[in-house]
Amino acid sequence: MPMDSVDVKYVQGHGRGDARPALVDPFGRAISYLRVSVTDRCDFRCVYCMAEHMSFLPKADLLTLEELDRLCSAFVMRGVRKLRLTGGEPLVRRGIMTLFSSLSRHLASGRLGELTLTTNGSQLAKYAREIAAHGVRRINVSLDTLDPEKFRAITRWGNLTDVLAGIDAAQAAGLKIKINTVALKGVNEDEFPRLIEWAHGRGMDLTLIEVMPLGEIGRLDQYLPLSLVRARVAERYRLEESDYRTGGPARYVRVAETGGRLGFIAPLTHNFCESCNRVRVTCTGTLFMCLGQEDAADLRKPLRASESNDLLFAAIDEAIARKPKGHDFIIDRRHQRPALSRHMSVTGG
Ligand SMILES: C[S@@+](CC[C@H](N)C(=O)[O-])C[C@H]1O[C@@H](n2cnc3c(N)ncnc32)[C@H](O)[C@@H]1O
Ligand code: SF4
Repeated sequence: MPMDSVDVKYVQGHGRGDARPALVDPFGRAISYLRVSVTDRCDFRCVYCMAEHMSFLPKADLLTLEELDRLCSAFVMRGVRKLRLTGGEPLVRRGIMTLFSSLSRHLASGRLGELTLTTNGSQLAKYAREIAAHGVRRINVSLDTLDPEKFRAITRWGNLTDVLAGIDAAQAAGLKIKINTVALKGVNEDEFPRLIEWAHGRGMDLTLIEVMPLGEIGRLDQYLPLSLVRARVAERYRLEESDYRTGGPARYVRVAETGGRLGFIAPLTHNFCESCNRVRVTCTGTLFMCLGQEDAADLRKPLRASESNDLLFAAIDEAIARKPKGHDFIIDRRHQRPALSRHMSVTGG
């Protein structure tokens, strides 16, 4: 649908006459979901995500916590209802609880429907209660294996015991958890039944993610098509179709034997582009309108240029007007080249 035929919807202010037009892209898709990477740093070095020796950005390039709050709040004022903090590892950013605390005002006002995060779980034992106290209800925890040695091999620096303790703490704090597992050929492909039974046994959803060949470390030798994973899982369990949707790219089924939900995310398919409601911002304030395309807009400059949000809103509007219809992922197996040079730790997955 072209822009000029879209009804401009307004996000109501709270009695101060500050209603602002909702963000709607040229294809009529309302932007209601923002993922924000709050740091490029991490205490793990997962093989499919980071090189072992990474050089990280200088601090001055990162948005400060105040700038992150301003940026997220600007999107909330324009109709974003779901906000996910990610990274790098969001919980290693110093002072991150102050950001959760300040953003929770939008939950209290009702403007924001959900504040959540994606984490590797290593710091959850420390922060779960505080996160829950700031209004977070559900979180995603990434975990690819329940085998301590494999866990160490995949994450290079991680410790499975810490993550399991983090999951315990999060459940004890009342947080609902979805486990995200990247399917890796020859690494965890024999473990999916165990992971399904473990997650569902603890009341957690599990989503299997197809590995994306991102960055020069993109490991095509570990590529395992989810169609194959699903077929294998279906040999063992009865998978019942489910119309459960989170607005994201996952397709869900119900596993009859466990009664739990199992999701599949194959980022290289176009299945959900037409209903894409999301955009991403990196920790340097670069807005990506599509995970699979290079086009981006710098929001740090307008953020820093003025204390008023006018320039920021103008930059956001201009960028959303360029949101593409779909992505351009191609796994170039012939040339063994990653389709995109961006690391997931930059865009936050
Ligand atoms: C980049 S991490 C950031 C948040 C946090 N550190 C974590 O691991 O959950 C977000 C998600 O991206 C996934 N991811 C990273 N690199 C990937 C890749 N090359 N292909 C598919 N998923 C990837 C991770 O497994 C994780 O679930
Ligand atoms: S996937 Fe998450 S935990 Fe692993 S290196 Fe990337 S940012 Fe860190």
